Amino acid sequence: MNLPELQLPADHDQLAALCKAGGDPLRLNVLRALANDSFGVLELAQIFAIGQSGMSHHLKVLAQARLVTTRREGNAVFYRRSLAQAEVLGGALHSALLAEVDRLTLPADVLARIAAVHAQRSAASQDFFARMAGSFAARQDLIASLPQYRDSLLSLLDTLGFAPTATALEVGPGEGAFLPELARRFAQVTALDNSPEMLELARRHCEQAGLTNVNLQLADALDDPGTQADCVVLNMVLHHFAAPAEAMQRLAGWVKTGGSLLISELCSHDQSWTREACGDLWLGFDQDDLARWAIAAGLVPGESLYIGFKNGFQIQLRHFARPDSRSTLTDRSEQDTDR
Ligand SMILES: C[S@@+](CC[C@H](N)C(=O)[O-])C[C@H]1O[C@@H](n2cnc3c(N)ncnc32)[C@H](O)[C@@H]1O
Repeated sequence: MNLPELQLPADHDQLAALCKAGGDPLRLNVLRALANDSFGVLELAQIFAIGQSGMSHHLKVLAQARLVTTRREGNAVFYRRSLAQAEVLGGALHSALLAEVDRLTLPADVLARIAAVHAQRSAASQDFFARMAGSFAARQDLIASLPQYRDSLLSLLDTLGFAPTATALEVGPGEGAFLPELARRFAQVTALDNSPEMLELARRHCEQAGLTNVNLQLADALDDPGTQADCVVLNMVLHHFAAPAEAMQRLAGWVKTGGSLLISELCSHDQSWTREACGDLWLGFDQDDLARWAIAAGLVPGESLYIGFKNGFQIQLRHFARPDSRSTLTDRSEQDTDR
């Protein structure tokens, strides 16, 4: 006897897709690797040491289950985790699956290959600034230059009411155009950049402006902090970091308890020419992503300002506070905090 084919509503398929996607150790590890990062298919194939077509298959299964989503960055497509939606069928399972996945420890060789992918991204960014320091200002003008958002940034900074004894740290000062503003407002300013060429431009700028309270350091912002400051500032730097979510964790460690992290950053855009012309690794960021990464780093979102430009770019000026209570911070000791 031929039985009629069972007709099931679409949400049954969706739930089954979710269960199927979670039923494979490699896919669970891919989800773990995407916890705090986004990777292209080639990068994931490299990280998990499998062929590109095999990885594409796994990503397709994860995408059908709505566990991952894609974002185009220039010619490359990057995969990231999707957030669970509590109200849809499978939402609770999705959320519980990710929570369990986050308890997995990735194998050491996978971690080493993730570090290698990050190193490749960082090298591309550093190489750009080494080659393009001479034409930096002109390139920056193509997107958004400091004079276009300086006043808004200063109004945000000035509402924070720092004491005259407070200290500031600028990460990635570039040519140093913002350093005079910081030097005027803070007792001591540290500026660190991992490009000797850019740091030299900043040094000249400080010299010309006669700044005596600015200490320039050649260092990578993602290394362990040698110092902390009341106010940590990054203007148009985050999109040059290999792993911005992870960077946010590090940057939170640079901020003294009760202090602030101020970030000027491009909103998400699709102008992929900026990767070539301006060395950008990421095409801006969603506002929600910055807030999510900051909260995960123990920071509290404060005021934000958004400025649109005629060329279509939009800048987000974001303030994140490091609360007095240290209960939310897991990775820094009391001694570190008072350093
Ligand atoms: C686009 S420029 C921004 C310069 C300046 N803040 C401005 O708004 O004009 C980015 C700067 O960040 C620096 N940079 C990029 N990655 C860095 C890292 N990991 N550590 C320290 N500096 C970094 C670059 O060398 C460059 O000077």
